[in-house]
Amino acid sequence: MAHAPDKSPDRIAGMFDAIAPRYDLLNHLLSAGIDRRWRAAAIRSLKLTGRETLLDVCAGTADVALAGRSHASRVIGVDFSGAMLALGLQKVRAAGESHAITLVRGDAMRLPVADRSVDAVTVAFGIRNVQQPEVACVEMARALRPGGRLAILEFGVPRIPGIKPLYLWYFTHVLPRIGRAISGHAAAYSYLPASVGTFASPAEFMQTLRAAGFSDVRADPLTFGIVYLYTALRK
Ligand SMILES: C[S@@+](CC[C@H](N)C(=O)[O-])C[C@H]1O[C@@H](n2cnc3c(N)ncnc32)[C@H](O)[C@@H]1O
Repeated sequence: MAHAPDKSPDRIAGMFDAIAPRYDLLNHLLSAGIDRRWRAAAIRSLKLTGRETLLDVCAGTADVALAGRSHASRVIGVDFSGAMLALGLQKVRAAGESHAITLVRGDAMRLPVADRSVDAVTVAFGIRNVQQPEVACVEMARALRPGGRLAILEFGVPRIPGIKPLYLWYFTHVLPRIGRAISGHAAAYSYLPASVGTFASPAEFMQTLRAAGFSDVRADPLTFGIVYLYTALRK
């Protein structure tokens, strides 16, 4: 079992600041473009009508915010990496969505939004980076109105025999090398498999969500369980 990596906010924000310029390219390349489908599945699960306010936590370069905007009237994206948000802001402006998408620098463990002020919350590939994910889950419950929906995407480890060893080889040997070569940041792409390997199991994370005040908690595997879509309702 790998050691849990250091997740102090300064280290994590600094790491994402450093890889930000190549983040989108690597995301799409390393996932063979499937990442867009995972984000779309998360947004679909929220069952938005177009009138809601969506809060996207760990917003990064605003891919979820932009995809979510087609289904919500307003999106607030929160992230603590200034460089990731700066790229996100360029994309939001290029899409002509500055009036509807607001990107804010802030920590998932202290969300800069009022109690019960949003209708839906998303987190894509961010929760495993948060130093105390259980605190972020309580914060998301605080921000959501009762009955509001939560959708979280996070990497998992596929269980299917045959797929699992192949995937682990790709994830621990191939992916860090490509990531390192393209981003020039060795630590970030070794951190990725280490952070996934030490994150809570789906059963454990579902329990964290229930303890934070969510009901109807589900964990649905996507693409053989490479990714899990966690969904829940604010009680
Ligand atoms: C792997 S990226 C995902 C970005 C985006 N959601 C996506 O789907 O591409 C993780 C993001 O989470 C942010 N992050 C990690 N921990 C955070 C925290 N405690 N508070 C705010 N942002 C955080 C990082 O800065 C980074 O931009």
